[in-house]
Amino acid sequence: MNDLFALDDLTCRALADAHGTPCFGYSAAVAAEQFTALRHVLPQRVRLAYAVKANPHPDLLGLFKSLGASFDCASIGELERVAALRLPAGRTFFAGPGKRMPELQKALYMGVRVQAEGFEDLARIDALATRETAVNLRVHPAFDIDEGNRIIGGSGPSAFGVDEEDLPALLEKAASLTHVRIKGLHVFAASNQRDAVKLKAIHGAVLDLAKRLHEVHGLALEQIDLGGGLGVPYASNETPLDLAVFGQGLSDLLARHAWFKGELILEPGRFLAGPCGVYLARVVRLKESRGTRFAILEGGINHLIRPLLTGQPFPVKAVGKGEGTVPYTLAGPLCTSLDRLGDVRLPELAAGDLLAFGTAGAYGLNEGMTHFLSHPVPPEVWVAG
Ligand SMILES: Cc1ncc(COP(=O)(O)O)c(C=O)c1O
Repeated sequence: MNDLFALDDLTCRALADAHGTPCFGYSAAVAAEQFTALRHVLPQRVRLAYAVKANPHPDLLGLFKSLGASFDCASIGELERVAALRLPAGRTFFAGPGKRMPELQKALYMGVRVQAEGFEDLARIDALATRETAVNLRVHPAFDIDEGNRIIGGSGPSAFGVDEEDLPALLEKAASLTHVRIKGLHVFAASNQRDAVKLKAIHGAVLDLAKRLHEVHGLALEQIDLGGGLGVPYASNETPLDLAVFGQGLSDLLARHAWFKGELILEPGRFLAGPCGVYLARVVRLKESRGTRFAILEGGINHLIRPLLTGQPFPVKAVGKGEGTVPYTLAGPLCTSLDRLGDVRLPELAAGDLLAFGTAGAYGLNEGMTHFLSHPVPPEVWVAG
């Protein structure tokens, strides 16, 4: 079995026959393996919080809960999904640049640790809280943000967090608040990064920033949240993250920053959920157009929007047909020429053939925009007269 595909051909075929296509299949064994392999290399002082946005499927959440996960939420919908898990206190976090009052209310009611993204979050929490409330502060750092794509927006202007250069003014203002206490730092500075050495450099820069906040502004930090961003391979020539090197890197950083006695938080989504998922869709028809061979599938960017958003395709195989070298452009059924899932080489295809897209457990179905982050769907109002 190719590592990029959590389910073998027999299982893909069985799922397609039993449930129809298109469909997503998730392997519980692969999800558990990703979690335990990562947990195994992490120093004890690192809390592993699954980023629900990657895939909020209730069975996946239940599995990670049973393995000891904490959870990172980004909307009221995600908070509700995690509330259903009935976790003990301290295992849920809430981040996001546009938190609304009902979301903050829900988070405080659940005893969730909020990652405040600016003074408005701090002031609103202060107004809602009736006793001392610890929050983490999300900072958009001045150092280079590692990014090969457009997910977190690079190190220029950003909607996320407090810009590092604005911290002194914000901390001064925050000192006058009654209930809110800044007890942690949150920096998300990588995306889909498979190089453990680069991750160590990024996390090292975050810890250096934390040290400056501690020394210059006297912040007593209980938590430093390093965000997500651990990468997974999407092609057979991409090497996976070296977990042993990654874990050692975090141990080294904790040793180097002996002043910090609190816990580190990691909140990976893609790494934990990506490899377990397979998306299955059949070929509806083939068309040769001016030298390009199109395979038109039952599903496209309505189910897998990532190739359109980031330019990065999912790996694909023709189930039961082995390797092939025929070039195809994979198109979906939508009436837009944006509906493309990639240019690939596969065996000769025929209508009805089953294709499987691997590493589709994260940012797959739920990245469809009304699903993404489990935000509520807006009502549609018919105004007559
Ligand atoms: C605040 C926050 N935490 C965690 C994640 C998960 O990132 P990844 O799936 O790259 O690990 C994201 C992704 O956008 C995020 O915005």
